[in-house]
Amino acid sequence: MGAMRAIQVASLDGPQAARLVEIDEPDDAGAVIIEVHAAGVAFPDVLQTRGLYQYKPEMPYVPGGEVAGVVRSAPADAHVKAGDRVAGLTMLCGGMAEVVALPAERVFKLPDNVSFEAGAGLLFNDLTMHHALRTRGRLAPGETVLVHGAAGGIGTSTLRLAPAFGASRVIAVVSTEEKAQVARAAGATDVVFVDGFKDQVKELTGGRGVDIVVDPVGGDRFTDSLRSLAPGGRLLVIGFTGGEIPTVKVNRLLLNNVDAVGVGWGAWTLTHPDYLAEQWAELEPLLASGRVSAPEPQVFPLEQAADAIAALEDRTARGKVVVKIR
Ligand SMILES: NC(=O)c1ccc[n+]([C@@H]2O[C@H](COP(=O)([O-])OP(=O)(O)OC[C@H]3O[C@@H](n4cnc5c(N)ncnc54)[C@H](OP(=O)(O)O)[C@@H]3O)[C@@H](O)[C@H]2O)c1
Repeated sequence: MGAMRAIQVASLDGPQAARLVEIDEPDDAGAVIIEVHAAGVAFPDVLQTRGLYQYKPEMPYVPGGEVAGVVRSAPADAHVKAGDRVAGLTMLCGGMAEVVALPAERVFKLPDNVSFEAGAGLLFNDLTMHHALRTRGRLAPGETVLVHGAAGGIGTSTLRLAPAFGASRVIAVVSTEEKAQVARAAGATDVVFVDGFKDQVKELTGGRGVDIVVDPVGGDRFTDSLRSLAPGGRLLVIGFTGGEIPTVKVNRLLLNNVDAVGVGWGAWTLTHPDYLAEQWAELEPLLASGRVSAPEPQVFPLEQAADAIAALEDRTARGKVVVKIR
């Protein structure tokens, strides 16, 4: 067992508590051992550095829920072998390290056309949005989708995936012109700004509204999101980057025949053991054929992992954020 470089959080003081350290490599004969090239950064990484996430790792901990790299070794009965290019889910922490050990069912072969940086930035959000749009949201061909935080990780994943799942139009909601460009590059049909989004959406849809709202932001835009739904529409509750967890007067659901739908992908995978493999079996061919583009992440060097996590907290991140490990 050798030593490796890793990012470690030893105090719950926010993203800048993340430091580059040397620790022991993991050693687990029953696991797939991956030499990590890049690790994804997602909003739970921000919350964990402040002790605000529902899952609280033991201190000190290595942040990072997803990785991409090359298999160093694997159990004989695993579906991957030494030398394979893979992406993997640590799920909650442990990803920002030169070597990770994962159970085989959380390791997925990367298509040749997906780089390590892109591969480190796709599983967490794309599998969440697959779950959100298909399983929970029941997206039907020709339907329209609106997505908040559209230039973020979940947002750009929605923009890339929704058309492949049948959406005819995806309207992006963003806070700045720079983010509007990110959203357009990721495939938005239309882009509107947060202020007054409801009226702009009404205008764009000829007064009808959209079939699905993807909401990773929550906060005070929730009621206007419900008002932006067409009859039969679904609001997908994904997260609360805006800070406030909104409340809903359920008469709004009744009056307009709309649903507020909870999306908890991680929890679903715990009760549906084959789900990850089923999801990847649908997603992998879309990526390999180019029907779904790979993410184009904003890449930070390992030494700047703290800044990478901070970019999500201070709202400056452009697209998915990834830390390059080697
Ligand atoms: N339910 C699930 O299974 C699941 C799975 C994965 C992630 N999530 C959740 O989804 C959410 C989004 O994660 P992500 O990784 O996509 O985050 P992200 O890349 O940081 O994107 C979040 C977006 O939220 C918007 N935002 C609005 N107010 C904000 C504020 N005060 N601070 C920061 N951002 C703000 C920003 O867009 P604008 O500046 O344009 O408004 C930003 O682009 C998180 O809450 C995460 O926990 C849920």
